[in-house]
Amino acid sequence: MEILKARRFLPERISDSLLLMVMFSVYGMLEALEMNTGKVPFLEAVNGSDVLLPCTYASCIGIEKLYFKWEFNDNGTMVKVMDSVIPTDNAEPVNKRIYRDRVEFMGSSKTNNVSIMIWNVTFEDAGQYTCFGKNPKEMGKNHSAIFTLYVVDELRVVDNTLTIIIVSCVGGCIALLVIFMLLKNFTLFVLAKLEEKNKECLVSSSGIDNTENGLSGSKVTPKPTPKKA
Ligand SMILES: *[C@@H]1O[C@H](CO)[C@@H](O)[C@H](O)[C@H]1NC(C)=O
Ligand SMILES: *[C@@H]1O[C@H](CO)[C@@H](O)[C@H](O)[C@H]1NC(C)=O
Ligand SMILES: *[C@@H]1O[C@H](CO)[C@@H](O)[C@H](O)[C@H]1NC(C)=O
Ligand SMILES: *[C@@H]1O[C@H](CO)[C@@H](O)[C@H](O)[C@H]1NC(C)=O
Ligand SMILES: *[C@@H]1O[C@H](CO)[C@@H](O)[C@H](O)[C@H]1NC(C)=O
Repeated sequence: MEILKARRFLPERISDSLLLMVMFSVYGMLEALEMNTGKVPFLEAVNGSDVLLPCTYASCIGIEKLYFKWEFNDNGTMVKVMDSVIPTDNAEPVNKRIYRDRVEFMGSSKTNNVSIMIWNVTFEDAGQYTCFGKNPKEMGKNHSAIFTLYVVDELRVVDNTLTIIIVSCVGGCIALLVIFMLLKNFTLFVLAKLEEKNKECLVSSSGIDNTENGLSGSKVTPKPTPKKA
């Protein structure tokens, strides 16, 4: 009886602790703030153009005094680009501080958007930007996402290779299609010719059949003649 009780007791404890673990991890997942720099977290921009560094945040438990900042990785040292605090959900950021030229805050709390714009980018602006967030509701856990900016002289080279690739692709496809059509037509032609020949063969063979029949018939017919004879 005691052994049975013990056996029963053990799995229950294991499943209990498993359940607790699952609950805690689900709770942790729900709690976490998430910073997001988009599905494609990089951009190639021409010098002199204006670029938007996108970043949005999401939190399942809501935010309170969310601190966010943008940092630039300048050769290993993180340099502040801007920072601010969002008091509560849907409240616009306060104490916006911008530490770099040509940078403007473009976000809106209505869309959980903390994107920034860099006007007239220079080659020095190229590099890794970190969008960082910390929600005191999560006891100071910090979260971040990286966006990489490439600054190039001109996009034309890339465009050219792209058009060349597209053109050659399309050209190749058309050529393949033409070849396919030609092959198809040729095969059909050959098949038709073969069929014609087959028909001829069939006709001649049926003719042979007929003659054979005729022969057999003639074989039959001669038979009576001898009988008659
Ligand atoms: C971009 O850089 C190139 C090379 O330094 C320069 O010739 C060009 O004027 C620049 N373009 C702009 C819009 O600043
Ligand atoms: C990064 O730092 C090293 C040494 O401090 C320096 O030689 C290099 O030029 C720097 N690179 C850039 C892109 O600033
Ligand atoms: C964030 O705001 C900027 C500027 O208004 C906008 O261009 C961008 O599309 C927004 N991003 C998202 C994910 O809503
Ligand atoms: C960007 O450059 C243009 C001309 O080069 C200038 O008129 C404009 O004021 C610049 N914008 C900023 C934000 O620096
Ligand atoms: C992020 O959090 C870790 C520990 O949780 C801390 O060591 C680190 O300094 C924080 N980063 C920033 C930029 O505050």
